[in-house]
Amino acid sequence: MASQKLALIGFGTVGRGLVEILREKRELLLEEFGFGARVVAVSDVYHGSCFDADGLDLGRVLELVASRGAEPGALSAYSDQVCDWDSLETIRNSGADTVVEVTVTNIETGEPAVSHCRAAFEAGAHVVTTNKGPVALAWSELKDVAKSRGLQFRFEGTVMSGTPVLSTATEALAGCEFVRVRGILNGTTNYILSEMEQGRPYDEALATAQELGYAEADPTADVEGFDVLAKVVILANVVLGAEIGVTDVSREGITGLDAAAVAAAPGLGQRWKLIGQVERRDGKVVASVAPVALPLSDPLASVGGVTNAVTMETDLVGPVTIVGAGAGKEATGQSLLSDLVAIHRAG
Ligand code: HSE
Repeated sequence: MASQKLALIGFGTVGRGLVEILREKRELLLEEFGFGARVVAVSDVYHGSCFDADGLDLGRVLELVASRGAEPGALSAYSDQVCDWDSLETIRNSGADTVVEVTVTNIETGEPAVSHCRAAFEAGAHVVTTNKGPVALAWSELKDVAKSRGLQFRFEGTVMSGTPVLSTATEALAGCEFVRVRGILNGTTNYILSEMEQGRPYDEALATAQELGYAEADPTADVEGFDVLAKVVILANVVLGAEIGVTDVSREGITGLDAAAVAAAPGLGQRWKLIGQVERRDGKVVASVAPVALPLSDPLASVGGVTNAVTMETDLVGPVTIVGAGAGKEATGQSLLSDLVAIHRAG
C-alpha cells in the first residue's frame, strides 16, 4: 500500500498522541517498515473539522488546537475554506482508507463510535481504535462486517494501551488455549490504591490521576470498575473466544474500600488491587471485576502506581505475564501506530 490515508475521528489526548508520533517517527517508519501515512481529515465534536486530500499539515493542526483549543471550533481556522463536515460526513467524504476512531468511550451504548465503525466499513475503510465501547459492545457484528468486506478492525490499545496484550494473545501465542486471564487493567485505580496505601486521601489521589490524563472523561468509569469491565469483555471474547456481553460480568469498583484497611494491608502481608478476571469454569466463561487483597507473593501485588499487568494462563506456554503502561498519550498513540503498521504489512 502507498501511504495510508487516515481520517481521525476524535482529537483528544489519544488522537494528538498519534499525530505527534507520526510526525516524530516519520523517517524511522519509512526506513524500517516502508510505512507512510497522510492524515487527510480530522473531525472532533468540540474542535471541529479540517480536510486536505493531499494530507494536512500536522504541525498546524496541533498548533491550532494548542493555541485556540480553549474555544470550540479551533480546526475551522485551518483553511479559508471552512470544512463543516461532522464525523459521519468526514468518514464518508474524506476518501480515507483507514479511519482512526478515538472518540470518548461510552460503555453503555458504544456510541457514537459504533456508528463511526459501521460507516467506515460501509465506506470501504479499515478501522483502528482505542475506544472500548464498540469492541466491548459490538465486536461480533463489527468483525463480521469488516471480514465480509476484506477490511481490518484493529483495537490493540483498548487493553493496556501500547503494551501488547491482544496481539501477544492472538498472534504470538497462536494455538494456545487460554484457561484464565487475570490482571490489573486500570491505571487510575491502581494509582489511587498505591497512594492510599501510603496514607494519601482517595480524593487527592483521584485528582492527580485526572491531572495526569489517566482517568476517563468521567472517572466513575474507572473507580466503579466499568473501564475494567469493558476490558474484561474484550479479553473474554477476543482471547478466550467467548460471546459474553457487559451484563455477564459481575462488577465492583474501589469506592467501597475502607481507606484504613488499604493502608494496613501490607502489614498483614497483603495489597489491595482491582482485579479483572476471565476464566473457563465447567465449560463456561466466567468474568468478574472486584477489589482483591492479594498476598504479597502474588506477582500482581508488586505492580504499583499507574502501571498495568496481566497474567494469561495458557495450555502450551503456561502463565505469561505482561507488565507495562495501561494509559497515557504516547503509549496509547503507539497502540494505534502498531495497528496501522499491521494494516500496512498486510496490504
Ligand atoms: N482510564 C483508563 C485507565 C485509561 O486509567 O487505565 C486506559 O483505558
